[in-house]
Amino acid sequence: CITPVILCGGSGTRLWPLSRKSYPKQFVPLVDEQTLFQASAKRLSGGTDQLKFAAPVVLTGSDFRFIVTEQLSAIGIDPGAILIEPEGRNTAPAILAAALHVSATHPEAIMLVAPSDHVVPDTAAFHAAVEKGLAAVENGKLVTFGIKPTHAETAYGYLELTTQPDDSGTAIDLKQFVEKPDAERAAEMVIAGTFMWNAGIFLFKAKDIIAAFAEHAPGLTAPVAAAVETAQVDLGFLRLDAEAWAQAEDISIDYAVMERAANLAVVPFDGGWSDLGGWDAVWRELGPDANGVVTSGEATAIDCENSLLRSDSEHLEIVGIGLKNVMAIAMNDAVLVADMSCAQDVKKAVAALKAKG
Ligand code: GDD
Ligand code: MG
Repeated sequence: CITPVILCGGSGTRLWPLSRKSYPKQFVPLVDEQTLFQASAKRLSGGTDQLKFAAPVVLTGSDFRFIVTEQLSAIGIDPGAILIEPEGRNTAPAILAAALHVSATHPEAIMLVAPSDHVVPDTAAFHAAVEKGLAAVENGKLVTFGIKPTHAETAYGYLELTTQPDDSGTAIDLKQFVEKPDAERAAEMVIAGTFMWNAGIFLFKAKDIIAAFAEHAPGLTAPVAAAVETAQVDLGFLRLDAEAWAQAEDISIDYAVMERAANLAVVPFDGGWSDLGGWDAVWRELGPDANGVVTSGEATAIDCENSLLRSDSEHLEIVGIGLKNVMAIAMNDAVLVADMSCAQDVKKAVAALKAKG
């Protein structure tokens, strides 16, 4: 039985104006009627005879706790625990807190740590990949999932394989893990052909990741353990202790553990994966027509090419004529119009609006 650990802490500013500080992208229906968080929770529930999932552990901030409970209850999933972080300290403290919480009752527990904001359309293929990682986990490995890179992306981690993937279905040992390289290094790694992207999904035993933190990021153990041990139960939520939590370094698991650990393995995954890191990725996921056009909601495109026209407002009809490489996203209170090549700059809009007050 595997314990899913779902991370719901990001703010997703690149998907403004749909994704808001008070309602980040994982809680909004982006590509179908379910939210990405609900789809993630469903993917990590049930399972097969060989692969059974326990109730999920969810980590989130205080502002989102009722969104989490409502969205889980709407799809009939009972959480095992909802841990509330007093403030976002990135994924390393969050994952260590989950591991300490889980291992308090079951040190041998296997955790499947997953982001709440990815699209993984083929659940059966994903479960098959997880199953392939289990033997390595039994050998004390920290298992990652590898995606075949398509371009020199600098927003991802890269996994260097010791051997080429074959059909044996077992995890491959890693030579090294490189988090968010610069553009030049990313291009070299894609050309080398021995690297995969890190999907950001991890499989390991609770006790093994706790040991890895103790070895590679020893400063985290004391504050995170204190925050878990003195956590307050509040309306069924487990509130981590704020004072102890504030002492934990703000760092991702990729830098804190993965770049430093020697016992990493990877299961290649080719069942479809997108991190929806911007509107261009949403456009791709929604399936452009022969002219490269996607319309969603009350939107009409006339003689447009390579464009995304989307209205998530009942009050706003959006019509584009003769557009090329444009994305236009309308909400009740804000409209974004940008060149498709500026998808990654949307976070600048959020920063600019914040500065305006
Ligand atoms: N609970 C909680 N608390 N969740 C968090 C926090 C936090 O403080 N910070 C981030 N998260 C959640 C995000 O919501 C997301 O679901 C997941 O953890 C990963 O964090 P991101 O901030 O999105 O990481 P990233 O995309 O920059 O990089 C990671 O994912 C890439 C693939 O998408 C890395 O693992 C990369 O190596 C990887 O390639
Ligand atoms: Mg991400």
